[in-house]
Amino acid sequence: MAIWSKGDDSTDALVHAFTVGDDWLYDRHLAPYDLLGCIAHAQMLGATGIIPTADAQALVAQLRILKEEFDAGQWTVEATDEDVHSRIEALLIERLGEPGKRLHTGRSRNDQVLTASRLWLKDHLCTVADHITSLAQVMLEQAQKHEFVPLPGYTHLQRGMPASLGMFFGAHATALLDNVVLLEGAWRLADRCPLGSGASYGVGLPLDRDACAQALGFAEGGAIALSDANSRGKVETAALDACGAVLNDLSRFAADVIFFVSAEAGFLRLGKGLTTGSSIMPQKRNPDIFELLRGRAARFLGLRSGLYAMTLGLHSGYSRDLQDTKPLLIDGVTLTEQALAVVHRSVPDMHPVPDRIEAALTPDLYATDEAYRLVREQGMSFREAYIQVGRNLDAVTVPKDHAALLRERSHAGSTGCLGLQRLLTQAHTIAYDWQHRRQQMHSRWQALLKSAE
Ligand code: ARG
Repeated sequence: MAIWSKGDDSTDALVHAFTVGDDWLYDRHLAPYDLLGCIAHAQMLGATGIIPTADAQALVAQLRILKEEFDAGQWTVEATDEDVHSRIEALLIERLGEPGKRLHTGRSRNDQVLTASRLWLKDHLCTVADHITSLAQVMLEQAQKHEFVPLPGYTHLQRGMPASLGMFFGAHATALLDNVVLLEGAWRLADRCPLGSGASYGVGLPLDRDACAQALGFAEGGAIALSDANSRGKVETAALDACGAVLNDLSRFAADVIFFVSAEAGFLRLGKGLTTGSSIMPQKRNPDIFELLRGRAARFLGLRSGLYAMTLGLHSGYSRDLQDTKPLLIDGVTLTEQALAVVHRSVPDMHPVPDRIEAALTPDLYATDEAYRLVREQGMSFREAYIQVGRNLDAVTVPKDHAALLRERSHAGSTGCLGLQRLLTQAHTIAYDWQHRRQQMHSRWQALLKSAE
């Protein structure tokens, strides 16, 4: 029987299947977080005297058992359940009787799902931050290792100027770290506790919203109830915007790698474990993961635009459309975590191929340097030098020592002054900050889960 049933109103099977959709599967991700929200709510109901203390204690004790059992795989959400919230309440009533019926005092599944999704998201934003910083670190290690290994620098995918592997890896690491700014925005939006916003308009009971917020590790209690309700979709959007920026960067990294490992360029070689073969051409070693990174970034766009459309023009207060923001958020964030993890696995196994790089360092790459030489040594104006070199391109030669030339470019951000150590320190600082906030949050959760004795 549904949580909302009055006894004579069971839903048609087809309607049940359609309205639940795949929500039960996604609710399996939310279950541990919903249990935390339930414990915080039960404790608050007891502390404020809204329900008897003994009932609150019985509820908390049973919810802790449910959490252990869920972790041990002893129960889960099934297609026959309307959602995780109904499932948990049914289990409580089955086991506790009357006290089980008191947990839903002063709350709605609408503020429950908001809370569980926020907790899930905050946990996963920490995971994304962790992946970003570890990937940036391995990229920076590669940058340091090959800091002065030359590489043709391309614009328009035409050879332009000498660059370096240090610059290549360092630039991609920087792009990734920049995304933490967006992640921070998503975190701050998610860091407000929606419990107590009820169905969308608050409830007629003196709830202690700040106590719930504090117990769950949120920075602040809820805002105007309706604004909490209306923020479903908005917080998810901020999270997917941050993830989208990450995937966009990874897709560009992937495009570079695909080109660099191609037979045409061949500047990098991928370790054997990173490539896949062809069922027909025995010689092939394909960079599938990098092609799929582009594919996944494109697929992600579908999720992201679906989410945007989901809340566009939606009237205030809960509407069931909002249920469908859940798979978009969970799939989008999960896809981002997987993409970051696979690139993290691949970066240390990328190896420069010196012969191919050497062969690609053709004289034309040094035309600009030759113009600068004329500026420096002969006091020529740059425009004059540009014309002179452009008319005598055949006279431009390749320097003997590529690494020396890369080192000579000493202004900030150039090949000789990439600031890799500073970037590594930045990555460590960001990693520490996010690990710290996760620890703080988890210690609150542990306090909710540990039994009184
Ligand atoms: N599964 C639902 C969701 O994700 C839970 C809230 C249901 N609320 C309702 N009024 N039917 O949105």
